[in-house]
Formats: sequence, structure tokens, C-alpha cells
Amino acid sequence: MKNNVCGIIMAGGKGTRLSPITNSANKHILPVYNKPMIYYPLSVLLLNKIKKILVITNKNEINSFKKILGNGSRFGVKISYKAQTHANGITDGLIISKKFINNDDVFLILGDNIMFGSGMSEFFNHIWETDNSTIYPYIVSDPERSGVVVFKKNKIDKIVEKPKKFISEWIVTGLYFIKNFDLQLTDLIQPSKRNELEITDFLSNINKYSNLSFKKIGRGYSWNDVGTFESLIECANLIYNIEKKQGLEISSPDEVAY
Ligand code: DAU
Repeated sequence: MKNNVCGIIMAGGKGTRLSPITNSANKHILPVYNKPMIYYPLSVLLLNKIKKILVITNKNEINSFKKILGNGSRFGVKISYKAQTHANGITDGLIISKKFINNDDVFLILGDNIMFGSGMSEFFNHIWETDNSTIYPYIVSDPERSGVVVFKKNKIDKIVEKPKKFISEWIVTGLYFIKNFDLQLTDLIQPSKRNELEITDFLSNINKYSNLSFKKIGRGYSWNDVGTFESLIECANLIYNIEKKQGLEISSPDEVAY
């Protein structure tokens, strides 16, 4: 049976590591080379053929996004907006979107995650058929900066948010496919030490009480979380180099929609 899937882009938070720019502008509209940051996660959703999209951001910043994305008709999709009162965590994004989600499954993507590579729509095509919530692990050299997943006998053993000691090189990227029936497990999540409803706690519960699958992002794909000045310029340079070499655009939502 074909699932209905909606998309959610998390574009709130304070962006403190990019201060003072983020004192007056939302992080996700900053340029990553020649496009606003939010174009990149939006393109992932468009490539996945998701037509119903919610952008979650801070109340006084919704208008900036509306000026860039409008109601989505330019991209052949419907984009709605929802204010998050405080940066209460990524799981909070799912909780405050219950009405929007309704009976759909959800493809949740963090607004500062930039992923591209050839064959992406085939890679994510399983979301229209699968019965399991799914994460997309990726190997990095600095896993302590992310949520980390430990595998045991080719199954997910545990998921830990930013472990201080090395436990695995596989991180949980900010792309999550969540089955509608697993959303009830958000009720179990308590604020963490940094006072957030952690996505890693929610995923751990899906793994414990339901079924959590994984699909590793292999070599050849680029994944970046652009939360710092360093990662921002590294990623911008990467995109600049590839676009210049090929004369083709990476993650242009207008082109993807076309
Ligand atoms: O990038 C992947 C990592 O993202 C995961 O591996 C971690 O498990 C996950 O917790 C997250 O870690 P970060 O420390 O990078 O999260 P950050 O606070 O930077 O927020 C990620 C994005 O979500 C960012 O674009 C802002 C947005 N956000 C965040 C929070 C906490 C919101 O829109 N609302 C929020 O309440």
C-alpha cells in the first residue's frame, strides 16, 4: 500500500554559533554559496516527490521565509508555516505539527542539513512503501558533534546524543522518516540536560518499542550540518567547485520542481 508522506523542515533555533549575524537574520536564510540554506533541505523534499510541506521557525521570522518560498506554488507544492515558541528540541517540532501531519507519515529534515549526490530520489524512494521509521546514518571523522548510532549484528543497538567518548563513527543525520503510528512515542520524551526534547531519545524509543530501520548514506554522497562559520564556508566552497566544474546547479528547488 502506498503511504501518504508530508515533509517538515526545522528552521527555528537560535543559531548562536553564527552570531552576531543570527541576531538579526534566521540562520536558514543565510547563503550557502549562491542559494539560501533552506533551498537545500527543500530540494531533498522535492526530489522525494513530497507535495505537502511545513516550515517550522521562530514566530517573528516566518515572513522572511514567506518572501523566499511563498506558498510553494512556484515549486508545485504547498508550503505552510508554523511558529515554534522556544527552541524546545527537534522532537518538539513533531509534537507541535500534529494537526498538519494528521494521518500522514513524516519526512523530517533539519534546515541546516545539506545533502546531495546522484540518485537521491531512488535512495529515498522506500519512504512510500516501508512499514518502518528509518534513519540515514553517515560516517564522519568527528562523531562527537552529532547524534551517534551504534550497530550490533547489523541492528541498531543504541543511539546517543553527542557522546563524549568515541562509541561509533556512524552519526544520525538530520533526515528522519517517521511512521505515523510511531508519533505517539513523542509522549514519552522528557527534556534533556540541555533542556531539549531530543530527537535521539525519540528514535531510541522507536527502536525499543517499535521498529527503527536504517539506510546508510554511502560514499559519493555529500552530507553537511552547516551550523558554524567553518562548516558554512567549507560547504559553500564544495558547492561552488562542483557547480563551476559542471556548469550545473546543485539543489535548486526551481530546477528540481521543473
Ligand atoms: O545535524 C544532525 C544532528 O542534528 C543530529 O545528529 C543530532 O542528533 C541532532 O540533535 C542535531 O544536533 P545539532 O546540535 O546539530 O542540533 P541543532 O540545535 O543545531 O539544531 C538542528 C537544526 O534544527 C537547526 O537547523 C535548527 C533546528 N531547530 C533546532 C532546535 C533545537 C529547530 O528548528 N528547533 C529547535 O528547537
